[in-house]
Amino acid sequence: MDGNIFEKILGQESLFMNRKIFDHGFEPSRLPHRENEINSLVKNLVDALHGHIPSNMLLYGVPGAGKTVVTRYVLRQLREKGNELNKKVHAYEINCRSVDTKYRVLQYLASELHERGDAVVPFTGWPTDRVLETLVSRMDRIGGVHIIVLDEIDNLVSRAGDGLLYNLTNLNTRLLNSRCCIIGISNDLNFTQQLDPRVMSRLSQEDIVFHPYGASEIENILLKRVEEGLKNGILQEGVVSLCAALAAQEHGDARRALDLLRISVQKAEQNSQDKVETRHVKIAQSQLEYDQVTPVLKTLPLHQKLVLLSICLNEENGLKNISTGDIYRTYADACFLIHVEPLTTRRVSSLLNELDTLGLIIARNVSKGRGGRSKQVNLTTPKAVDCISLMSENEPLVEEAALGKYKLQSKL
Ligand SMILES: Nc1ncnc2c1ncn2[C@@H]1O[C@H](COP(=O)(O)OP(=O)(O)O)[C@@H](O)[C@H]1O
Ligand SMILES: [Mg+2]
Repeated sequence: MDGNIFEKILGQESLFMNRKIFDHGFEPSRLPHRENEINSLVKNLVDALHGHIPSNMLLYGVPGAGKTVVTRYVLRQLREKGNELNKKVHAYEINCRSVDTKYRVLQYLASELHERGDAVVPFTGWPTDRVLETLVSRMDRIGGVHIIVLDEIDNLVSRAGDGLLYNLTNLNTRLLNSRCCIIGISNDLNFTQQLDPRVMSRLSQEDIVFHPYGASEIENILLKRVEEGLKNGILQEGVVSLCAALAAQEHGDARRALDLLRISVQKAEQNSQDKVETRHVKIAQSQLEYDQVTPVLKTLPLHQKLVLLSICLNEENGLKNISTGDIYRTYADACFLIHVEPLTTRRVSSLLNELDTLGLIIARNVSKGRGGRSKQVNLTTPKAVDCISLMSENEPLVEEAALGKYKLQSKL
């Protein structure tokens, strides 16, 4: 090959004007379709500027509904106003997916309030009560109103219980010279069922539900980014609305829409094309689907894989709406082939529910008369994904089971 191998691609003009506009962490200057949610936050948090305690709040909504970006936006402006008015407002944002234990949350907060000469609170090792004491004394030392945002709080509660929330929602009884308000953000609408009723009533003094975006709302969100992030006129008609429609189907997820558009542009660039076409959006969609389901398939526990394998084998054989009985027969045959003890039908039934929750299958309950119930199961994995070979990677038993011979129910 002539010349340097990077030459060709380096010389190619990018279709992006500013790629950062599509980063997950980018904070847009305007947030259309979230005016009500912003207003509710502002009405409550304005109390902090008066030196009062805002109510604790819970924000709910599906992933990609704008909870994080809206909260950041409001807090940034609150800090700015606080500085301007010389009011002491301190806001902390913690993502409980990465900071996922009571100790680590308290340690993080205490460290944020660290001043020169203070003992360093270690990442592990102190009794949790000592970290809490330290936090309380540091909050009082600096004074003012402290707003603690616990993002993706459902993660922490399902891993570590509600002990942290019990302590944090109780802080105002211990603070002498400062005040504190908790904002919990959850992707899971049912997460409060895991909370002690006392914690629940203290935490959810005010709730905001972020409804899923509709297709036209997502389209507006995208158009703003297109204006700032992409070169003029590179999008073929219909590209934005297709991204919006696909993301609206996917529970109204604005993050998904932005990813779809970014990947579509990248696909066009990779093909050295100067226009992004709807065809690129479809490629982007299947890549996202593939990336989403691949790690899930690879890391399923053995019996989950065997149950899914038996669904795949029956589907490959042309069966639709596969009954629990058929699945169980194939599953038991697979277990026999690889000398593994099969689980009971009841356990397999609950594994089917888990596969449904993971979005790999749809299991519909049907009644069979006389109070008997069964499920009808269909795969929902994208066609481009070869489930069996992904599940077989690093799992010789599944590979072996997949190669076996089965007596399958014939097409009806
Ligand atoms: N109303 C909006 N206007 C502009 N961008 C938005 C809006 N809502 C969400 N986004 C963008 O969509 C993505 C997902 O939003 P995010 O706040 O992270 O969702 P959540 O926290 O609810 O999962 C982010 O990139 C965010 O900037
Ligand atoms: Mg979020």
